[in-house]
Amino acid sequence: MRRVMKDKVAIVTGASSGIGAATARAMAREGIDLVLVARRGDLLEEVASDVRALGRRAHVVIDDVADGAHARRVLDEAMRAFGRFDIVFANAGYGMERTIHEMTDDEVRTMFEVNFFASLGLLRAAAVDLIRDRRGGHLLMCSSCVSKFSLPRHGLYAATKAAQESVCRAMRFELAHAGIEVASVHPVTTTTEFYQVSAKRSGVRQAAVPPHARPFFTQSPERVAKAIVSCLYSPRSEVWTSATVRFSAALFTLCPWILDAVLRREASRYSSTPSL
Ligand SMILES: NC(=O)c1ccc[n+]([C@@H]2O[C@H](COP(=O)([O-])OP(=O)(O)OC[C@H]3O[C@@H](n4cnc5c(N)ncnc54)[C@H](OP(=O)(O)O)[C@@H]3O)[C@@H](O)[C@H]2O)c1
Repeated sequence: MRRVMKDKVAIVTGASSGIGAATARAMAREGIDLVLVARRGDLLEEVASDVRALGRRAHVVIDDVADGAHARRVLDEAMRAFGRFDIVFANAGYGMERTIHEMTDDEVRTMFEVNFFASLGLLRAAAVDLIRDRRGGHLLMCSSCVSKFSLPRHGLYAATKAAQESVCRAMRFELAHAGIEVASVHPVTTTTEFYQVSAKRSGVRQAAVPPHARPFFTQSPERVAKAIVSCLYSPRSEVWTSATVRFSAALFTLCPWILDAVLRREASRYSSTPSL
């Protein structure tokens, strides 16, 4: 029987742009009410008015996911605004283009705080509330295709994404008894602010385009949003948006020397990328 999305409530972090904003709009089209979370309130309000124009309710929460009280604050806001939540998409995140040894301790910790610990904290707290209220639900994290293969100068980012995939896999089976679905989302290069933010944070002139980011593999955030909505109706452990990259990831696991050869070429290319 097809799952019913109408009148469900979803929390989306990183909803002010890119994949989060597109997913919020796509969910609203399915009849879902939205709690929209990010730091830039003006952009959140724009997404909220799109959601309302689609006939659904939207509640904006301006919050930094790296703040220790983030998870509790957002879940409480959802309960206060709508009296429930059913879906949580922990999507806020960013990348940096920097070799691992060049990153400062602070940069390493902050990236794990935002990309991994914040999404982990939100899903853990949401799971406890959903189990307590016997409501079932759907929890998702925005990982990446690079959860399956690390890349030079994107290695720490890939580590945060692999960590997300790992906990989603375990949580999926730990929470099945409570009727809670868990999934990791694995986009390939998506046309969002991601690479500009990454370049700015890294102090490089322009973010170098990694191998999976060539035009052939580039997708719109709407394409990712469509795959996420499809997962709400037909739950699965991993949401992929490119069969080619998924196949390549499987091949790299089976034959790591192929990945080594690809990355050796990439590393030599990156070594000539100037830093500011
Ligand atoms: N674009 C890609 O090629 C790609 C590929 C694979 C996976 N992903 C993943 O997709 C997710 C979304 O990225 P995107 O591509 O949509 O990039 P984006 O357009 O830069 O969106 C990132 C979102 O995260 C929010 N965010 C970042 N740091 C935050 C913080 N400390 N607190 C609250 N919100 C924060 C930003 O909002 P504010 O700045 O308003 O706070 C923004 O809404 C990320 O997890 C990323 O790793 C992206």
